[in-house]
Amino acid sequence: MNAPTPLAEIAKDILRENDRGSYTVPTRGLYPFQWNWDSCLTALGQRHYDEARAWTEIETLFAHQWPCGMVPHIVFHVPDDGYFPGPGVWATGRPVPTSGITQPPVAGFALRRLYDRAQNRAEAATRVRALLPKVAAWHRWFFATRDPGGEGLVAIIHPWESGRDNSIDWDAALERVPTAGIAPYTRRDTQHADPEHRPTKAQYDRYLWLVEHFRELGWDTARLHDASPFQVVDPGFNAILLRAAADLADLAERLDAPEIAAENHRFVARGLAAMERLWSERHGQYLCRDRITGRLIDSASVGGLLAAFAAIPTARAARIAASIEAQGTRFRVPSHAPADPRFDAKRYWRGPVWLVVNYMIADGLARAGLAAAAAAITRSSLELIHENGFAEYYDPISGAPLGGDRFTWTAAMVLEFLAMEQA
Ligand code: DGY
Repeated sequence: MNAPTPLAEIAKDILRENDRGSYTVPTRGLYPFQWNWDSCLTALGQRHYDEARAWTEIETLFAHQWPCGMVPHIVFHVPDDGYFPGPGVWATGRPVPTSGITQPPVAGFALRRLYDRAQNRAEAATRVRALLPKVAAWHRWFFATRDPGGEGLVAIIHPWESGRDNSIDWDAALERVPTAGIAPYTRRDTQHADPEHRPTKAQYDRYLWLVEHFRELGWDTARLHDASPFQVVDPGFNAILLRAAADLADLAERLDAPEIAAENHRFVARGLAAMERLWSERHGQYLCRDRITGRLIDSASVGGLLAAFAAIPTARAARIAASIEAQGTRFRVPSHAPADPRFDAKRYWRGPVWLVVNYMIADGLARAGLAAAAAAITRSSLELIHENGFAEYYDPISGAPLGGDRFTWTAAMVLEFLAMEQA
């Protein structure tokens, strides 16, 4: 009998299979373009077999940064009508078409990780130096346009920006988004994946209303925040931004860019202080805040656990680790608290486990000195893959693979988890 192929080899095969030369698609069919945070996390997998290629992944994304500093959530490099909404719906007028909203800004973290672990130091320094001002411009854009009141935290203005598209966190705020007048459309995602595992039509209608509304405002990113009926401060999204800002500041210090360092240190100090206002003692985690009502959203999702990715107080990180332990699903970390009656083990971000989020939580807990809690997430993640392959996401109770298959960022995270286990 042949020995089973080691996980690392399968992971590299998937990354190569989805590689389009200078960018990587998340998976064939369902997602045929370049996605922002997928790419940054994908680079962390690519570094295990081709460092130069890993830098290129992030450089390609930033080659499509908007003049205002925003980095769009999708770059439509090639025509492909297998995805909706395509470039014609966004109509952002960019030379290479892109969407007009953004995604979790994990690039600063990815740059530092690539740089710190690079074998080719000279190449890493050259490539990171060129990217530093671009990532800094993106961070500056966030605080200028998404934190107009100067509270220290930024809001997302579309659920797709969070990456956690159909989280229970957004349900109440989405109720405010009208649907009248949207152009008729045909979804393509439900032709590639089981509709029961995807967002509902009611949610898609609202996603599209927001896109059409922003398009009518000419994609002027300085106006969209105030014009959006959906403005949510997500602790997970902000933790990614604050961790990326801290990592960018660290790189900038080492690479002699003191202004970038100082500016990002300021973002981190203000943001971490403001994050405390999102803490819920009852849930043992952070919560989202609806910026329009000003109230915390009573929804214990993984967004509030992902806050551990930033340098939150150690006692908070320990409490988050305890909350995860108490969830009691066979596989961790579910994207929504299983005790909540709204939890749905199979529907995208309303319950399933996602390896990218596991990776960031485990990394944050390890940095907070909670090695056992981090190792338990790493172990659970790798068990999930051993038993169920490289899916987009997984049922946290049964481990059943869900959504797309041979998924790029799942493969990238497996390479990182394997490295973490060996460290
Ligand atoms: C989708 O189409 O499912 C994406 O998450 C939007 O970016």
